[in-house]
Amino acid sequence: MELHAAPGNPGIAAVAKCHGGAEPLALAQTLGIELTVVGPEAPLADGIVDRFRAAGLAIMGPTQAAARLESSKSFAKDFFRRASIPTARYTLAANHAEALRAIKTFSLPVVLKADGLAAGKGVTIAHSTEEASEAAARLLAVSAPLVIEEFLVGEEVSFIALCDGERALPLEASQDHKTLLENGQGPNTGGMGAYTDGRILSAVEQGRVMDQVIEPALAGMRAEGCPFTGFLYAGLMMTPSGPRVLEFNARLGDPETQALMHRMAGDFTGPLEEAAHGRLTASSLEWRAEPSVCVVLAAYGYPGKPRPGDIIEGVDQAPADVFHAGTRASARGLETAGGRVLGVTARGETLREAIATAYRGVEAIHFEGMQYRCDIGAAGLKRWPA
Ligand code: AMP
Ligand code: GLY
Repeated sequence: MELHAAPGNPGIAAVAKCHGGAEPLALAQTLGIELTVVGPEAPLADGIVDRFRAAGLAIMGPTQAAARLESSKSFAKDFFRRASIPTARYTLAANHAEALRAIKTFSLPVVLKADGLAAGKGVTIAHSTEEASEAAARLLAVSAPLVIEEFLVGEEVSFIALCDGERALPLEASQDHKTLLENGQGPNTGGMGAYTDGRILSAVEQGRVMDQVIEPALAGMRAEGCPFTGFLYAGLMMTPSGPRVLEFNARLGDPETQALMHRMAGDFTGPLEEAAHGRLTASSLEWRAEPSVCVVLAAYGYPGKPRPGDIIEGVDQAPADVFHAGTRASARGLETAGGRVLGVTARGETLREAIATAYRGVEAIHFEGMQYRCDIGAAGLKRWPA
């Protein structure tokens, strides 16, 4: 098998041929690519899957219409209602006056969400009416309508299923760490680290998520004429009254996937290919029992204005697996080129061991202004004290 990446980065360059700046469809046609897998949300929202299919090329991901589950929070919320998918109670507001009226009908804290793609940064949890009013103005300036919803309490779980439009194969559950700082402090980010452990959801809970969230979403999208092919990612709050969907993403989650890949035991390209062709046959994916952890190293200034150009040292010495995100090769060596720069990942006999190995990897790496959280996976250790 030959692997190509567009644009790719110095990390994937170790296993794939990178094509920086190339237009994906023309590239796939020129190279005779058999299967394209789309990573980020922007090209999905922009209709890359529709264009590949129109050209007769196999591609793994949802169409532009199906990707609205991620690209429009208001579409997603109204869809949850139509498909009876459990979610937080919400109101849509088209302008600031409507938002203020709606905010008053929720207790505090109240959650405000921008409609469009915001790289994990379009959500504000407001603890006062003034803060909510200010956030409403800021978010409405970027996109409308604004989603205003009730604050849910519970264990947050990322649940991803590989879908072929009709059938879904669940991946193992994982847990992301959204805030920049430890203990839920600081601004929200795209995710500062993740871990996956077979104990995150029981078999009963996983069944509930499939029955109440994933299957109704697939059936609903099919009934509405836009069947979902690709990775359906449900960001869930496991509340005392069952799972509630916080958001859907239309792709694999980052950094959950780095951790998940360390636990995948069997073949992955086969199921991917089957899903892309609308004919999933496998009944389950194979997983290693050992937990895994991914710690994100972010650039100075993230999530606001990440600084590029800081020299990265120690990646080759790190005793863990280092996935690249925002990196580039320069004359001076490897340097930062994005918000989340690296995902330092390890598997262990126990969760504690996986965490320890991942952080040994972190300690080996250095760049100016490097930010990371010290508590990735700690929630799991607390839940299951050894
Ligand atoms: P989202 O992009 O919708 O997943 O929101 C980002 C993060 O905000 C989530 O991962 C949660 O930590 C938090 N969040 C979003 N919606 C809610 C809610 N209704 N209740 C509590 N926390 C929420
Ligand atoms: N970690 C959540 C995401 O990929 O957006």
